[in-house]
Order: sequence, then structure tokens, then C-alpha cells
Amino acid sequence: MKTPADVVVLGSGIAGLFFALRTAEKHSVCIVTKKTAAESATNWAQGGIAAAIGSDDSFERHARDTIEAGAGLCREDVVRMVVQKGPSSIRSLLDLGVEFDREDLKTESNFELGREGGHRTRRVLHHGDATGREIEGTLLSHARRHPNIQLLENHCAVDLITSAKLGRPGTNRVIGVYVFDRQEDRVEAYGCKAVFLATGGAGKVYQYTSNPDIASGDGMAMAYRAGATLANMEFFQFHPTCLYHPKAKSFLITEAIRGEGGILRNTEGKAFMSGHHELRDLAPRDVVARAIDTELKRTGADHVLLDITHKEATFIKKRFPTIYSRCLNFGIDLTKEPIPVVPAAHYCCGGVVTDKSGETDLPNLFAAGEVTCTGLHGANRLASNSLLEGVVFAEAASDALEKRLPSLSENDTTPIPDWQEGNATDSSEAVVIKQNWDEIREFMWNYVGIVRSDKRLDRAKRRIELLRDEITEYYWNFRLTTDLIELRNLACIAHLVIECASQRKESRGLHYNIDFPNAKQSHCVDTVIKLKT
Ligand code: SIN
Repeated sequence: MKTPADVVVLGSGIAGLFFALRTAEKHSVCIVTKKTAAESATNWAQGGIAAAIGSDDSFERHARDTIEAGAGLCREDVVRMVVQKGPSSIRSLLDLGVEFDREDLKTESNFELGREGGHRTRRVLHHGDATGREIEGTLLSHARRHPNIQLLENHCAVDLITSAKLGRPGTNRVIGVYVFDRQEDRVEAYGCKAVFLATGGAGKVYQYTSNPDIASGDGMAMAYRAGATLANMEFFQFHPTCLYHPKAKSFLITEAIRGEGGILRNTEGKAFMSGHHELRDLAPRDVVARAIDTELKRTGADHVLLDITHKEATFIKKRFPTIYSRCLNFGIDLTKEPIPVVPAAHYCCGGVVTDKSGETDLPNLFAAGEVTCTGLHGANRLASNSLLEGVVFAEAASDALEKRLPSLSENDTTPIPDWQEGNATDSSEAVVIKQNWDEIREFMWNYVGIVRSDKRLDRAKRRIELLRDEITEYYWNFRLTTDLIELRNLACIAHLVIECASQRKESRGLHYNIDFPNAKQSHCVDTVIKLKT
């Protein structure tokens, strides 16, 4: 057993790094990240970070847009806490050296604010169309230099170690984490006083996703197996516009393009959003993704078009340099022709339940970011609220942990047993992992996608039960690899999404079931899920 630090942080996106930097002011921190540290969803975020700082904006307006998008399930106290902390969170990022675009380079605070779906005013701070890369790079450079932070890349968390699993007396609590060192090819037990989960989302559970390959729901699955409560896993957000091109894997076309006047058209060139919502192309994401799905089914086309050709070419190239050059690589000049787009799984609004301090109901386990369900997003996340949520809850969790740490110290000093490999052998059956992985992602897309039905959910349920049995058997008989760890986690996520979706007998926000097409007041509650022990 190793004890690398007081606190182990799993994940190296905005929430993990922000939490680590704040906590490391007083304590030792070890960040465990399964590939290179920059490979996080944060790094891919194009749009930006929402904060009510514009002269025509207010906390009330930001809160109202968030609550409206959330379709009845936002926790209003959480929404108010987050929007009110918006300006100070932006200040913290600026103090660390993050740069956001300004209207006038000479003015300190005159930020250029973008607009995205569901926002009735401009409030999205951005760095061109590569905001996440700017934030990730800045935070990471601080973390790499920090004397109290150890950064372990190519280390993949396998499972949380709990007192209950080791048969220790008292309330079940987290006492460490098993970590797979990919280079050394071995699993080690890390003992620590607390674990901070910042592992991000689970978009890889769907065949088409805007998420990077790391998004396999590891944190959610580990927390579930350890006994923490999760909620609202049925609310998977599909981003309306990902590039449709055979060679473009997971490339998002930011909603900010529609914020600057981009229009969705079908392949016959007809704009179709006006019949769906008063905000037309800037309606909340669930509405836009469903409208596209309807259009695809109606016309039989395999994509729709996003048209911004009516704007000046110089403006487009300056405002969206990454998208412009990426599309050009695929032979699409967006200043001259519309971009072919399709919806893809983008963001999991459900996750590990935390309170306003980022504490889960499993003692010594804290969490922030996409891995959580804090009550901010409700049934549908408002665009660009997630980076803000990551900062606000990372800060809150760090402060809460600071108060708790003295009492956590004495609890668990007995060594944790080493990982038991048993009779596991090297697998020569990698094809089984690929087959199971593809199968899950395909039926999740077809049966548990943008439009669901009870029959499709039942089919998905039968399939995932079978696959989970197979994967469990495989898991204990063969030596671990990252692919196998991720497959086991993905199967768990699929099970949780299907389970939550089957429980919700109505349509609300991101969950649309043709058998129950309307929202019901009596169902306006979270779907809570916890492992039965
Ligand atoms: C986008 O740029 O469209 C994505 C922003 C977000 O998901 O919040």
C-alpha cells in the first residue's frame, strides 16, 4: 500500500485541477489521470463559461434561463449559489492567468460575450472557440509546478476502497483507491484521507458522441459500486451539432455559431427551427436535438446543415478559428458553404449526488464537475454552465474538506490489503472487449437515445443484463487493462441510464419517451439510484 498524499484527486479537467490547486495550499495532493493530464473534456470545450457580467444581465436572468432549461428539476438554491459565484469564479481564473477575449484590448474588463442555446442574453466568456484548451493549459501549468501536487499520468483508478469492503467497523467510508499503473502494468492500493472525484462524463456509452475517448463514466461507476447515491442518469444531453463527416471523430461545432446567427437548415435548404420554439435556432438543446431528429426521420437524410455563410468571412475566421481550420481540413469552407451536422451524446446531467459543498453521501468522498448531480442542471443543462459549475463546486469542496480534514486523520491507519489478482491470466481475447463495447454503444444509441419508448428500454435492459454478466466473468478471469476497466464502467453506466430512464414514466427535458409524451407534475422529482447491499 502507498500513501501518496492526504487527498487523491481522480481526473485532471477544470474541477480536478482547480480543486487540487486550492487544496494544495495547505495539504499534499496526488492527481491520478488515466492518460496524459490534458486529455480531459475541459480541453475540448469550445463555447465558454457563462457568468452574468454583461451590462444588460443580472443573476436573476442567468438563474431564470438555467431554471427554464432545467425543465422543473433544478434546485433553485443551487442555481442561485452558482450564478452568484459566476463573477468571482471568472476572477479566480483570470488571476491564474486564463485569458478571455475582450472587445477592446486596452480595457481590463470589457469582455466579448457570446450567446448559446437557452440564454436570452449574451453572457458566455470565451477564448476564441478554444476556451477549454486555454483554461486546461493554464491550470495544468500551475499544477505541474506546484510543490504539494504530484501528478500521475497514465494511471487509471479501478475502484474506491471502502471500509465496508474491507469489513471494517463503523459507517461505510472511503479510505483509498485501487489504481492501475499502465506503464508498470500493476494495480496498487493508495491510502488517503479523502478522495475527490473529477472524472468527468460518460459520453462513450453512446455510439456517436462529442466526448473524448476518456469519457467512460469511471467516477460514476466507481462511486455507485462503493455505495454512493446517484441521480438523474436518464438526462443525457445530445449536442445538436457535431460535424458529420466519415473521418471526423467526435468533432463539435459550437452552439456559439448559432449564437452569432447560424441557421439550421434541412438538406433541401429550408430553415426548420421556427416551428419548434420561440427562440428558434437558440432554443434549449433538448428542443433543438429533437427537432433535428424529427427532421432526419421525416426526410430520410443522414444530416442537417448549419449555415453561417451570411456573416463576413473575416468575422467567422477570427471568432471560430479552430472550427474554420478543422472544417477546411475536411474540405468544408464554412464561410462559403453550410456545415453538415448531426446530434451526438454530449453531457450527462445526472451523476453522483453532492450537496452544496461537493460532499457525497459516502463519507470522505467529494466530487465536482460532470461526474456529479448537484441540482444545477435539472433535466437539461444550460450551455456553458458546466465549466462554471466545475469551478464553483471545486472551490466549495476544497473549503469543506479543509474543515473536515483534522477529524479524518485518525480514522483509518491500518494498512489496506494489496490488490488480489487471484488466478487471472493475460487475455488473448481482446476481440471480446471490442465486441461488447460496440454492442453497448450501438443499442444505447438506438434504444436509449434522443427519442425512447418503453419497448426499446425493455430491449436495452435485457441486453445490458446479459452483457454485464459476461463482462463480470471476464473481469475476474483476466488481468486488468484500461480497456477492460473502461468496458466494465461503461456497462455499469448503460445499466444506470436504462434503469433511470425506465423509472421515469413521463417526458421531461432531455428524457423523451413516446409512450409518455408529456411532463407530469407528480413526476417532477429526481430519479435516485443506489446499489442495494
Ligand atoms: C458548445 O460550445 O456548443 C458546447 C458548450 C457546452 O456544452 O456548454
